[in-house]
Amino acid sequence: MAVAMDRVRKKNREFEYTWEDFNVLRKLSNAHSGIIVPDDKFDMFYSRLARRIRELKLRDFKSYCQYLDTHTEQEFTKFINAITTNLTAFFRENHHFEYLQKTVLPELLQRNAASRRIRVWSAGCSTGEEAYSIAMTLLENLPGSWDMKILATDLDTNVLAAAASGVYAVERIDGLPERRVKRWFLRGTGTHKNQVRVKPELQRMVSFKQLNLMGDWPMQGLFDVIFCRNVLIYFDRETKQRLAARYAGLLRDGSCLFIGHSESLHQLDTRFQLIGNTIYRLK
Ligand SMILES: C[S@@+](CC[C@H](N)C(=O)[O-])C[C@H]1O[C@@H](n2cnc3c(N)ncnc32)[C@H](O)[C@@H]1O
Repeated sequence: MAVAMDRVRKKNREFEYTWEDFNVLRKLSNAHSGIIVPDDKFDMFYSRLARRIRELKLRDFKSYCQYLDTHTEQEFTKFINAITTNLTAFFRENHHFEYLQKTVLPELLQRNAASRRIRVWSAGCSTGEEAYSIAMTLLENLPGSWDMKILATDLDTNVLAAAASGVYAVERIDGLPERRVKRWFLRGTGTHKNQVRVKPELQRMVSFKQLNLMGDWPMQGLFDVIFCRNVLIYFDRETKQRLAARYAGLLRDGSCLFIGHSESLHQLDTRFQLIGNTIYRLK
């Protein structure tokens, strides 16, 4: 069936692309990033990678698979960057930020009163909207004298560069309350009039770093909160289980882990207890 479908589709494509090519590419992606690529991502892989094939002036997907094999060092990051899914938004799944503000931060104000220090990790941060939303929530609700830092990591180097620049198309802040826009964003002028930039105060709080969740985690010290939202969905059960255990090892007791709206730690053996809609607490 897949082969028959493939033949039909091939006719309309700029580059020849087979299920064999797709299988090579998804296996490579899975081995490196842990991301499971289901059959229905066949077309998505074509559209994401056709641009690379055009840029490299290659003949077809088979040549691209060979190129990846022989030029791994130059091409692998670009391959991974092309196939990651980076959908995100400021204050996405806003109930998490409300819980952070109303429940977690008042607790941390007491628990960390001696150190006056807060550490948060945004794992799979994409273009940075999640990390900056956390920074806004912290700065709006905690004394400015506290030492507050957010580590924001992703596998994809393109999104990290965009995140660190702090520059967004103006539509990205549609729907944010005016008081937030005024307080935290600078509007571009002239040729940048369709852009906004987050204020330096927010940028100073967030460190963007490349980190593959499948690899080593060089962080030392514990976090008070971890956001790993809309990332687990791409992983198999064993990987989720392993990640949950690693997150547990990096959180202070009683701290919260926020995951994405279609994700769950249900049926995994973890030290986390579900305490709200996709909100977990380390027992
Ligand atoms: C859909 S975005 C989620 C962004 C943000 N957390 C949110 O919920 O709005 C998923 C991000 O996970 C990243 N990602 C996927 N696999 C990863 C891995 N193995 N290590 C680190 N990041 C990964 C992708 O590059 C992508 O930017």
